[in-house]
Amino acid sequence: MCGIVGVLGTHEVAPILVEALKRLEYRGYDSAGIATVNNGHLDRRRAVGKLVNLSDRLVHEPLAGKSGIGHTRWATHGAPSEKNAHPHRTGSVAMVHNGIIENFRELRAELAAKGVVPETETDSETVAMLASYYLDSGKSPAEAARETVARLEGAFALAFLFDGEEDLMIAARKGSPLAIGHGDGEMFVGSDAIALAPLTDTITYLEEGDWAVITRQGAEIFDMQNRRVNREAKAIRMDATRIDKAGYKHFMAKEIAEQPTVLADALGAYLDGNKITLPGADLDFTKIDRLTMVACGTAFYACLTAKYWFERLAHLPVEVDIASEFRYREPPVLPGTVALFVSQSGETADTLAALRYCQEKADKIVSVVNVETSSIARESDLALPIHAGIEVGVASTKAFTCQLNVLLLLAIKAAKERGTMADSDIAGLLDQLRALPGVFNAALDRDTTIETAAQKISEARDVLFLGRGMMYPLALEGALKLKEISYIHAEAYASGELKHGPIALIDKTVPVIVMAPHDSLFDKTVSNMQEVMARGGKVCLITDAAGAAEAGEGVWQVITLPAVDERLAPLLYALPAQLLAYHAAVAKGTDVDQPRNLAKSVTVE
Ligand code: F6R
Repeated sequence: MCGIVGVLGTHEVAPILVEALKRLEYRGYDSAGIATVNNGHLDRRRAVGKLVNLSDRLVHEPLAGKSGIGHTRWATHGAPSEKNAHPHRTGSVAMVHNGIIENFRELRAELAAKGVVPETETDSETVAMLASYYLDSGKSPAEAARETVARLEGAFALAFLFDGEEDLMIAARKGSPLAIGHGDGEMFVGSDAIALAPLTDTITYLEEGDWAVITRQGAEIFDMQNRRVNREAKAIRMDATRIDKAGYKHFMAKEIAEQPTVLADALGAYLDGNKITLPGADLDFTKIDRLTMVACGTAFYACLTAKYWFERLAHLPVEVDIASEFRYREPPVLPGTVALFVSQSGETADTLAALRYCQEKADKIVSVVNVETSSIARESDLALPIHAGIEVGVASTKAFTCQLNVLLLLAIKAAKERGTMADSDIAGLLDQLRALPGVFNAALDRDTTIETAAQKISEARDVLFLGRGMMYPLALEGALKLKEISYIHAEAYASGELKHGPIALIDKTVPVIVMAPHDSLFDKTVSNMQEVMARGGKVCLITDAAGAAEAGEGVWQVITLPAVDERLAPLLYALPAQLLAYHAAVAKGTDVDQPRNLAKSVTVE
């Protein structure tokens, strides 16, 4: 969601803030703004749309000062407009916010009675209004910020600056991540290490409910009860924060192409010969009765795929749920349950809330994350990194395959410990998994064929995806990818469900993408495909050579992938799904890396 940066520096801060915001733009790009204190005076510049509009504004109306805060917005309350852009300013306070202030209406009413009126439609401005009110009633900036934070309900990461205070920044977090960066006579705040990486190599993550008084000399951190606390400063791995397109036109294209490499790295991290080793604590699957897996979006589809693996390979019952549903349903979590949360960012608000719901109930909280320092990782008993490297493209690609990889390894480990797979079968499957990066490369070589199909698909208004068994979650993922970046309406169904309703949608204008490796279910899927073609539907079949040979006449497009063990097919078939969406989006001329209305890290519910 929104990105926050703050700098108490030794140089002019406006260009530094804009540079840091560029690295945070994946979090939101509806509007952006910065505020500085210069010669004791607060001032700000804001612009609607992408960051480049703010940069243009700053050329014509520069902003001097060595202390500043910046923000890139993903609108929740109030349309994306310059007026609603952050930093918000009331009186002597400027403030940036990520999250949602749930009690802003009550606070506004209370402030209105005291004559403090809002200028915007946002919940966030209420924070500046409240802090300004406390300041005007004689409190110091730190007291005003502390009392403000104590009144807020909801989720927030905040950074405050004050008129007349060039060496003071207050930061606070609850529900949304915030890190403090340490420099030499300089201090920083940022939504994540990625924003701060060029500025510092040492950061401290604020914990839930923490707030901090920051000067150029350092930071004093207080917990929710206002007790002074020490939070560990950590070194950032600079290689893990490098962001560039490496010659690709889009981050998404680069991240798709990186999959053979990151998959090989991840396998290297988990496999010691044929032994699957987990970092940190072990997980003993002989003591587990069931798994409850919870996630959102693409990560949810990774969980759905893994359900097939855990059930088939390890005979372990698995429930999978969408985090936003799970968290409010109050489901029973029985003894013997391991609760497993999958999240690329590790900050998704609903997934984090679901994790907290399970904390006292499940035997163990396990997470599968990309960002190892994230809240979800830190609040888990066991956090399993997927080793995908930074994913910048808003549409998840390499994180999905790397999530699948870790989940498959866990399922194989479970199968071994529960005695449901023979050692020779495990060895054979792991051998094929080790060979998969090479197979990925071969699949990526089919790019031209996929691009041709995608160009045709890009002309459609509606697209259906079909898959059976493990290909069903892949069909869901393919449809999600297509709709989020190309804005083509896409739906996915389990192939067997077709004649229970969706078949009514079929006509010659609706391409139907059928994901069907030549596996034990292939014949069934081909029957469903024939039903589509008999009604004039245009089928794009993604299969392997044996599948292509058996598909018969009349298929509109065929994308042929290398043949793999059917248990590994979900990893491989993710690639054409991603490439189809990518090329369709490019053909339609949409903003591939920053699709409308979306943001990378969904830190509000
Ligand atoms: C789709 C996509 C989203 C995320 C979802 C969960 O391409 O990226 O659906 O998968 O918002 O995000 P994480 O994995 O960060 O919890």
